Amino acid sequence: MKRKLISALLCAAMTASLLVGCGSSSNETAAPADDAAPATEAEAPADDAAPADDAAAPAGDIDKSGITIGVAMPTKDLQRWNQDGDNMKSQLEAAGYQVDLQYASNDVATQVSQIENMISNGDNLLVIASIDGSALGSVLEQAKAANIPVIAYDRLIKNTDACSYYCSFDNYKVGVTQGQYVVDTLDLENAEGPFNIEFCAGDPGDNNAILFFDGAMDTLKPYIDAGKLVIKSGQDEFADVATAGWSTETCQSRVQTIISSYYADGTKLDAVVCSNDSTALGACNAIDSDYSGDQPIVTGQDCDIANIANLVSGKQSMSIYKDTRELAAKCVAMVDSLMSGSECEINDTETYDNGVMVVPSYLCEVAFADKNNYKELLLDTGYYTKEQLEEVGVTVE
Ligand code: BGC
Repeated sequence: MKRKLISALLCAAMTASLLVGCGSSSNETAAPADDAAPATEAEAPADDAAPADDAAAPAGDIDKSGITIGVAMPTKDLQRWNQDGDNMKSQLEAAGYQVDLQYASNDVATQVSQIENMISNGDNLLVIASIDGSALGSVLEQAKAANIPVIAYDRLIKNTDACSYYCSFDNYKVGVTQGQYVVDTLDLENAEGPFNIEFCAGDPGDNNAILFFDGAMDTLKPYIDAGKLVIKSGQDEFADVATAGWSTETCQSRVQTIISSYYADGTKLDAVVCSNDSTALGACNAIDSDYSGDQPIVTGQDCDIANIANLVSGKQSMSIYKDTRELAAKCVAMVDSLMSGSECEINDTETYDNGVMVVPSYLCEVAFADKNNYKELLLDTGYYTKEQLEEVGVTVE
């Protein structure tokens, strides 16, 4: 069948591409190509490859209409994954591919079975934003056996050699940027303090959640050690502050408990470092309902539309801006490279050790939005329309 033939040609092209080695960019350093190359492709003998002409064919020369890209997204519950799914679908279709887009309601078993179906349906490449990065090892063995390349999207897939590439943002830097925002806003270099701070991190199954927390904690730890920042709850480990499923409600109830236990007697709460916008919403709700002091600093991430009104009113101080259109564009470029046997653009070959291999990665840059710059970042770039902002109660002049 046409799809099987294309699959065979593409596998051969992929093999040839990976045998050549992945592309390099300026900040790529030490890791040798052999360490970075996924075992499936590296092990495949060159003789299995299609004729050189096919392998070298640029993406434009392939009949992409017969190529299906499976895109597995975690959930429709959070805005960003809807955006990511939409961006990936529209950009892949614009490039000429067929798209098999699935959402898994944040249920690992559902995601595993969706990926199994993608493999048995003959999808030619998988792009996966995992729910639990450590839970896909077995199903990805099947992808590897079928020579289907896998790109980990936004979240690293762990404990497998079947993950060809990783396309994400600089996740550690997200946390550093949140921590630095607190340092700058409280003027921790100069102010005496002490200031009181609490942390709300993300889901323990999401590798990003740990990186966000580590980035923020590493930035703030010197001030905690110096006594300028105090965590009244004493909850300073990732395991203490993690939020299952990144749930707004779970975060809200934890912050309510912290407020009633440590801040009900007039003790000032100066900052709540929330790793993303769903947890920030929970923290802001808890502060609204249970805390009577001045508005603390609250950080976030994603610039979710539901958070923009809080950002503008000052309830939420900042949100990390990650342009998901750019992430999708980089990921689609990776798909094109893999499908055509050309070099993938990567800019990190050191950071993302998944327990079995260092996954060659492309990391997009992040910035932060606050009430002073949200128009430039979110409106002028077309990320949101004026109407979308007005719908959530933000008046745009
Ligand atoms: C993403 C964040 C998102 C969170 C919850 C993380 O993996 O990087 O942007 O807020 O998941 O969906």
